[in-house]
Amino acid sequence: MSSIAMTTETTVSHAVEIETTRPFFSVRDMHAYYGESYIVQGVSLDIRKGEILALLGRNGAGKTSTLRTIARTDNPQMRQGEIWLDGLPVHQMKSFEAARSGIQLVPEDRRIIQGLTVEENITLAKVAPGNGWSLEQIYESFPRLAERRTQEGVTLSGGEQQMLAIARALARDLKLLLLDEPYEGLAPVIVQEIERILHSIKPLGITTIIVEQNAVAALKLADRAVILDTGEVVFAGTAKEVLDNTELRHEYLAI
Ligand SMILES: Nc1ncnc2c1ncn2[C@@H]1O[C@H](COP(=O)(O)OP(=O)(O)O)[C@@H](O)[C@H]1O
Ligand SMILES: [Mg+2]
Repeated sequence: MSSIAMTTETTVSHAVEIETTRPFFSVRDMHAYYGESYIVQGVSLDIRKGEILALLGRNGAGKTSTLRTIARTDNPQMRQGEIWLDGLPVHQMKSFEAARSGIQLVPEDRRIIQGLTVEENITLAKVAPGNGWSLEQIYESFPRLAERRTQEGVTLSGGEQQMLAIARALARDLKLLLLDEPYEGLAPVIVQEIERILHSIKPLGITTIIVEQNAVAALKLADRAVILDTGEVVFAGTAKEVLDNTELRHEYLAI
């Protein structure tokens, strides 16, 4: 009798534990190709809600391709694997459906729309359905964008364009932010400003994957890290483990 009660209790507490530790975002054995070129070779990763994951690796390791596969672009094309966001099967979605579900990719070239002001770039993003940030919320977090709201977006500095690209993602329904080399070409003071913004959205439950050549900066910001090499995961652990592991840093990150 008491043993049955104990078993039940154990089962219940175990179930609760699984529920609270279930990853918010999960990639399972993902394979993707550019034509016949096999590039993403069985990537798996897990992220909890509100975490920042640094996705690192040498040039050509497959970082951009991994982000593009997660965002469900046609190139590269995913041929095997599963992608789950908060219980939703992203692997069954088209790219526009993935975006509607809250996956927003900010590519390396930022894609600011020519001929539109800062405010028009943000407003256009708000056309998508869902509960994105209001203009007021955005301007409060990005005072530089507020000052330049009537300026054409493409005439902003590199750092300001990066902020606009992130602001645009926030204007949409944002659950998973995919950032491809956001710090590239930016002055340290601007990098710090972007870091501050990425930190401030964590408590809102926004989950981020950051790809960066500036591995040290990404690792200082991130909770966890995944290192890719030739399209495969060669390390997954905490960001601190990578910072503390000289061998790993030398071998895959050249730092
Ligand atoms: N459009 C493409 N067509 C064919 N091969 C590509 C294409 N884009 C990237 N690749 C190849 O995929 C590999 C991974 O590239 P990428 O994901 O851009 O790496 P990373 O972002 O880590 O530098 C490289 O070998 C690259 O040449
Ligand atoms: Mg890349």
